[in-house]
Amino acid sequence: MSEITSPAPNLVPDSLAPLKLPDDRELVMRVMPMPADANGNGDIFGGWIMAQVDLAGSVLPARIAKGRITTVAVNQFVFKQPVSVGDLLSFYAKVERIGRTSVTVHVEVYAERNPANLHVVKVTEANLTFVAIDKDGQPRTIPRS
Ligand SMILES: CC(C)(COP(=O)(O)OP(=O)(O)OC[C@H]1O[C@@H](n2cnc3c(N)ncnc32)[C@H](O)[C@@H]1OP(=O)(O)O)[C@@H](O)C(=O)NCCC(=O)NCCS
Repeated sequence: MSEITSPAPNLVPDSLAPLKLPDDRELVMRVMPMPADANGNGDIFGGWIMAQVDLAGSVLPARIAKGRITTVAVNQFVFKQPVSVGDLLSFYAKVERIGRTSVTVHVEVYAERNPANLHVVKVTEANLTFVAIDKDGQPRTIPRS
């Protein structure tokens, strides 16, 4: 199989590129909530968003821990704006701390909405800590290389 040596061309015209998405943290997940994730008002359940943040938050710690991890704490969770069916949610993560057995990340969630007049809104942010665990579920040291 041939190796890709140059970046794929950017097919999105500048005028369509979503503005105000952060570039100092890593895009770890994108998802669009479905009607089954909404309450009777059409807003998305907070618990659904928390589950997505937990998944998105685990991406960098799992990479760093090079193996099994588990969520030990959600130290802060702020719902800044409601999320609606049809919003495209982008999850950005930044590693805040690497401890002996744990990795703490900050996750920010942005909603792209209203394609006719696209705008981007920060809807949620959270701080989560994940612990590297061994096959018995006990904490293990984060590998340093
Ligand atoms: C995660 C678990 C293995 C940690 O075991 P433990 O014996 O409590 O481990 P420790 O007290 O040694 O703590 C391990 C690390 O977690 C960190 N930690 C523990 N509690 C924390 C908290 N409330 N906030 C932030 N970090 C925390 C410790 O500081 C330590 O990090 P460090 O080694 O980098 O300094 C254990 O608590 C567990 O299995 N919890 C259930 C996890 C789970 O099921 N999660 C899914 C959600 S239901």
